[in-house]
Amino acid sequence: MADYEENKQKNSFTLFSNETGKSYDLPVIKGTEGPDVLDIRKLYEETGMFTYDPGFTSTASCDSSITFIDGNKGVLRHRGYDIHELATNSEFLEVCYLLLHGDLPSPEDKNKFKEVIRNHTMLHEQLVYLYRGFRRDAHPMAIMVGVVGALSAFYHDSTDFSDIKQRMIACHRLIAKIPTIGAMAYKYSIGQPFVYPRNDLSYTENFLYMTFSVPTREFKISKKIVKAMDRFFILHADHEQNASTSTVRLAGSSGANPFACIAAGIASLWGPAHGGANEAVIKMLEEIGDVKNIPEFINKAKNKKDPFRLMGFGHRVYKNYDPRAIVMKESAHEVLEELNKLDDPLLKIAIELEKIALKDEFFIEKKLFPNVDFYSGIILKALGFPTSMFTVLFAIGRTVGWISQWKEMIEDPINKIGRPRQLYLGQKTRQFQSESTREKKSIFKWLWK
Ligand code: CMC
Repeated sequence: MADYEENKQKNSFTLFSNETGKSYDLPVIKGTEGPDVLDIRKLYEETGMFTYDPGFTSTASCDSSITFIDGNKGVLRHRGYDIHELATNSEFLEVCYLLLHGDLPSPEDKNKFKEVIRNHTMLHEQLVYLYRGFRRDAHPMAIMVGVVGALSAFYHDSTDFSDIKQRMIACHRLIAKIPTIGAMAYKYSIGQPFVYPRNDLSYTENFLYMTFSVPTREFKISKKIVKAMDRFFILHADHEQNASTSTVRLAGSSGANPFACIAAGIASLWGPAHGGANEAVIKMLEEIGDVKNIPEFINKAKNKKDPFRLMGFGHRVYKNYDPRAIVMKESAHEVLEELNKLDDPLLKIAIELEKIALKDEFFIEKKLFPNVDFYSGIILKALGFPTSMFTVLFAIGRTVGWISQWKEMIEDPINKIGRPRQLYLGQKTRQFQSESTREKKSIFKWLWK
C-alpha cells in the first residue's frame, strides 16, 4: 500500500454524466501486476450513484499481496512464485508458511513452523461428543461446518485477534487441526474408531494415517501417494478472492472470530459451482459411463434449454487452461500408475471428454477449459476417498489460504466492515392492507402441498 496515494495522483479516469452534464475524475490505482482499478470510494458522495456488479465480475473487493492470477494467460502465483514450481519443488507446509508470512522460510523457520503446527494437531477431547451428535449418514462437509464453527467454543484463548500472538495461535491451530477434523468426519461416517494424530509423521502422511489406518493393522503408504496428496493440498492452498475466500473476508470484516469465519468459508466452498465441483465431476463421469456416450453429454452442455453443465469445465477467472489442472492431470497419471490403475475407465472417459470438448466450437468460443476439479476427483477416487470427502479435502488445502487472507485483512489499516449496496427493484411505499381486503385465494398453493 506504500505507493497507493502516489499512484492515485498520477492517474485518473473521467466519467461523464449525460444527465447532469458533469464530469467526475476517478483516481486509478495500479497494482504490481494485473488490471488497474478505478477507485470509486467517493463515487456515491460525489454523484449520488452506486455501481452495479452482481457476482463481482468487475469489482476488486480488496487489495491483496498473497496471490496473483492472470486468467487469460493461465498464470497463478503465490507471493510471486509460480504454482507449477511450488507444486513440483515445495511441500505443503512450506507453502502454508509462504502464504501466511510472505516469504519462503529459512531452514530454521521451516523447522520451527513445522514444530508449532505439530503441537496443535490434537482436538479437544470433548469435541468427540460433538461428532457423536451427528447422524452417521451426515455429509462430511456438514460436519466440517459444525465442528470448525465450534472451535471458538473450545479455544477462547485465541479469539482476541487484536493480539498478534493470539492471532497467530488461531492461524496455527486452524492449519494443524483441519486434517484431524476432516479425518474424523470420515471415520465417523464409516463407523470406524477415530485415529489420533501422530506427530512423528509429516503433515500429509499424518492426515492419510488418520484417515486410512485402523487399529488392527500396520499402516503403510507409498511415498508417491503422500507426495500426490501433498501436491493436491498445494494446488488448493489459495486462489485469491473466490466465493469462499470472499465469504471468509466478509464474515471477518465484522470482527467475527477466525474459527467462525473459516466455518463460513467451508459452507460457501460446499456449493457445486465452487468446491463441490470435484464431487460433481465424478458423478458426471460415472453417468457418462462410456466413451461412446460423450457426444450426447457434450450436446446437453451446449443446449441452452438444458441446465446441464460439463462439471470441471470453465472458470470465472481462467479463460485459458487452469494451471492447477495441468499439474493435476500429471498427478492423476502418476497416482494411477503407482496404484496399477492406469486402465481406470473414468480416466479414459475424462481424457476423451477433454479432447472432444477442447475441439468443440462452443467450448472454444466460450473459453471453457478444464479446471482444477476435472482431474482431482480421479486421483482422490483412486486413493480410496468416497466422493463425499472430496470437498473436505479441498477445504483442508484451502484453510491456509482463507486464514492468510483473513490475517491480511485484519492487519490492513483500511479494513472496514463489508457492506455492499443494492439496486432496489421492489415496491415503493404502500398502505398496509387489512386481511379482509386481501386476495381470498392462496397465491402459494404449491408451497403448502
Ligand atoms: N458447461 C457448459 N457451459 C458452460 C460451462 C460448463 N461447465 N461453464 C460456463 N458455461 C457457459 C454458460 O452457460 C454461459 O453461456 P452463455 O453465455 O451462453 O449464457 C457462459 O459459459 C458463461 O458462463 P457463466 O456461468 O456466466 O460463467 P461464470 O464465470 O459465472 O461461471 C463457473 C464460472 C465455474 C461457475 C462455470 O464455468 C461452471 O458452472 N462450471 C462448472 C462447475 C465447475 O467446474 N466449478 C469449479 C470451478 S473451479 C474450482 C473453484 O475454484 O472453485
